[in-house]
Amino acid sequence: MAAKHMLHCLFLVASLFLTIVVNGNATTVVKNLDIKRYMGRWYEIARFPSFFEKSDAVDTRATYTLNDNGTVNVLNENWVDGKRNFIEGIAYKADPKSNEAKLKVKFYVPPSFPLFPVTGDYWVLYIDQNYEYAVVGGPTKLFLWILSRKSHIDDATYKELVEKAKDEGYDVTKLLKTPQSETPPPLKQGV
Ligand SMILES: *[C@@H]1O[C@H](CO)[C@@H](O)[C@H](O)[C@H]1NC(C)=O
Repeated sequence: MAAKHMLHCLFLVASLFLTIVVNGNATTVVKNLDIKRYMGRWYEIARFPSFFEKSDAVDTRATYTLNDNGTVNVLNENWVDGKRNFIEGIAYKADPKSNEAKLKVKFYVPPSFPLFPVTGDYWVLYIDQNYEYAVVGGPTKLFLWILSRKSHIDDATYKELVEKAKDEGYDVTKLLKTPQSETPPPLKQGV
């Protein structure tokens, strides 16, 4: 009887463990991302606060350009008190053999005097059919971005995108909306 009880307990523990392991790996990353379609301008609609993004920054956006060698040039811009900040980097597939949109982004900091490479994970968790909206995170779930081709999106769409992140286990209560001007700043304003 006792042995049977113990076996039952073991089974419970084992299945609990399995559940955790399986859920831990369950992050759904976009497969077969069309990198060419992904290129261009993306506006940051919302984000998790992070040490590398100033909390009072507005009009935050990213511009991706495909390089000849298959890497992606990354230009991140934002404006603080009307002053443009920017940093450029390179993105590339973490594992060239994988069909998952798990990228690495490498920046050199500080931008004005690039000394140290800083590499981060950039996982595309969701992209709509028209490549108009994207949800981007990483393995640690400490970073999250909701991106859009347009600087403003409607509430229903926003909620859908937040729901996608929530389904992936992100604490979406941490999301901060990024203020975006009615008319986005022009390209390369005040470099
Ligand atoms: C790919 O090209 C870009 C832009 O010319 C360059 O900055 C980068 O170092 C190159 N990367 C590799 C792995 O060749």
